[in-house]
Amino acid sequence: MIREERTPAPSAKNYTGKADARSRELEAFHSLGQDKLTGTILRGKQGSYSVQGRITEGGMSTIYLATCLDGECSNKKVVIKLTNAQLDLNGGFLKGEGEGLGRVDHRNIMKILDEGVYDDGFADTAFLVLEHLEGETLSQLLQKGGAVSLERACAIFIQLCDALAAVHAAGMIHCDVKPGNIFLTKEAEQGEIAKLFDFGLVMFARKVKPDGILRGTGDYIAPEIMRDEIYDNRVDIYAAGVTMYEMLTGELPFNSDSMYSLLEQVSAGGLPIPLRARKADIPVEVEEMVMRALEKDPAKRFQTAKEMKSAILAVMAASGIMSPGEV
Ligand SMILES: Nc1ncnc2c1ncn2[C@@H]1O[C@H](COP(=O)(O)OP(=O)(O)O)[C@@H](O)[C@H]1O
Ligand SMILES: [Mg+2]
Repeated sequence: MIREERTPAPSAKNYTGKADARSRELEAFHSLGQDKLTGTILRGKQGSYSVQGRITEGGMSTIYLATCLDGECSNKKVVIKLTNAQLDLNGGFLKGEGEGLGRVDHRNIMKILDEGVYDDGFADTAFLVLEHLEGETLSQLLQKGGAVSLERACAIFIQLCDALAAVHAAGMIHCDVKPGNIFLTKEAEQGEIAKLFDFGLVMFARKVKPDGILRGTGDYIAPEIMRDEIYDNRVDIYAAGVTMYEMLTGELPFNSDSMYSLLEQVSAGGLPIPLRARKADIPVEVEEMVMRALEKDPAKRFQTAKEMKSAILAVMAASGIMSPGEV
């Protein structure tokens, strides 16, 4: 049952304390977007959630901050994800995302807590309840400062390899690996933790037959998908390679101003611009490792995320790159 109750908003006027955390919380609350879902209570399969406001509205979905009212996450902040109904008439993306996230339990993958359906006045609308992550996405970080340090890029990349190994072991291909779908959180003891999320395009298959769908996002889409060939987990290896390229150089492997020009370059066999042509101080071993992930022919890439992780660890040892914890 869904109770259409309004929850009182915390008032900035009543706040007189000095605690930084509390004022940050209030600031965050007041920057939330308000809409008709704000203040309502959504009932999922495991518990109910009081919607505080909208965090962001993306191309595909709307993300809300909510408070868990009962069950295991009682009193904790959670995130509610809804897919834009026009794009996802049957709730297909969200159903796949819920199932995909439910198949993995890994420190480098965002956790799903619950799911449910509510009546938005027109139709039943599916929603997911996700752990609330504090921090920023890798794309937000790159937009602010361009490239990140070699050590930090390696540390994030290793965690991405671990996340992909878990996704592939569960019989899935993520199909949308990119900085915008990697969250960076800080956990006191363990430092920066990268979490892969947004399983909206996940495929439950080891191999995908050509289906004419350009699945993924722009520059992160592997050449074999662009060529409409059969593809597999190695499309995620390619996208992880593009992500690493971007972390190291602040730029993308191809100079293209449109999807059309990118498709044209890639289908004409164009090669990515070498990393060291973008940034000369990148060690040659690191460049070789990334270029291997970006091979046009999937057979020439790392075949598994585990193999790619071993390669970056070997490169770090050979080039004397410390992990951030060791610096
Ligand atoms: N669990 C979460 N905690 C905090 N912010 C989140 C969470 N999930 C998503 N977001 C924010 O919402 C944005 C869009 O989420 P995403 O799942 O990638 O949706 P889309 O399918 O529209 O790309 C993310 O880039 C991030 O800023
Ligand atoms: Mg996304």
